[in-house]
Amino acid sequence: MADLDDVKPSKEFYADVPQETEGFFLKGCNSLDWGMKNRLARIFNPKSGNTVMLAFDHGYFMGATTGLERIDITINPLLEYADTLMLTRGILRSLIPAGTEKSIVLRASGGPSILSELSNEGIAVDIEESIRLNVCAMAVQVFIGGEYEKQSIMNMTKLVDLGNRYGIPTLAVTAVGKDMVRDAKYFRLATRICAELGAHYLKTYYVDEGFETVTSSCPVPIVIAGGKKRPELAALKMASNAIQQGANGVDMGRNIFQSDAPAAMLQAVRAVVHDGETPEAAFEIYETLKNEA
Ligand code: R5P
Repeated sequence: MADLDDVKPSKEFYADVPQETEGFFLKGCNSLDWGMKNRLARIFNPKSGNTVMLAFDHGYFMGATTGLERIDITINPLLEYADTLMLTRGILRSLIPAGTEKSIVLRASGGPSILSELSNEGIAVDIEESIRLNVCAMAVQVFIGGEYEKQSIMNMTKLVDLGNRYGIPTLAVTAVGKDMVRDAKYFRLATRICAELGAHYLKTYYVDEGFETVTSSCPVPIVIAGGKKRPELAALKMASNAIQQGANGVDMGRNIFQSDAPAAMLQAVRAVVHDGETPEAAFEIYETLKNEA
């Protein structure tokens, strides 16, 4: 039986203290549902507002990419330094410890390989699978101007609808064909189309000229892909410029796992993205950690 003797004599309703209604820290995301916001807050750090996503989903169309031949050996030791892991369900189930606390962004589109037309993708994961795997977002490639442009956009809108039903955000990845121009005008077009059609956040490439117009005209957060491997200082400069010009983080793969010292590089990228370190200071962190290792 409940102990009635010790019950506090009076209740305190704090009637003179108005309840605070806080906004959500990510741009364009305040009207989303609680579950959607909570998942986004596991991808983006609520303190810095930014994320360091470690991308190693390349195998879904490229096979055993350089640096990803043995994910258990080369990638698993890096997991602790990432905020979010971007990967396929095959690698998640076979190689990633289920005890990980890292948020998962699941590659949810696929179909063609590097031997065929890449824009001919379909949705490659059921929404039930995403729920089962407890993912924080689903990633879909969108090929604006590509041969299968409309199909890839419809893949995205379908995932957005399914994800909205269960509170799972959709990351639209703006993919660029081999012969297409990568400039601010193109990325303004691609990111805006995806955002208007419901993507919760975007991945795009950094461009030297006018990147700030890409982020400012996109109503939801943008993260940048790393792209091909470049020297570490150059990659850190790119990440820093992107953050200074309005990006909310990076989704970086080859510039991490193809680095001479991947763990050091990932920590240096974190310093730029979360702590606002200059590329030069972050490069020093990289060199120090590399030498220590
Ligand atoms: C490629 O299609 C994948 O979506 C990668 O996750 C993305 O390109 C980021 O990797 P990287 O930094 O190597 O470009």
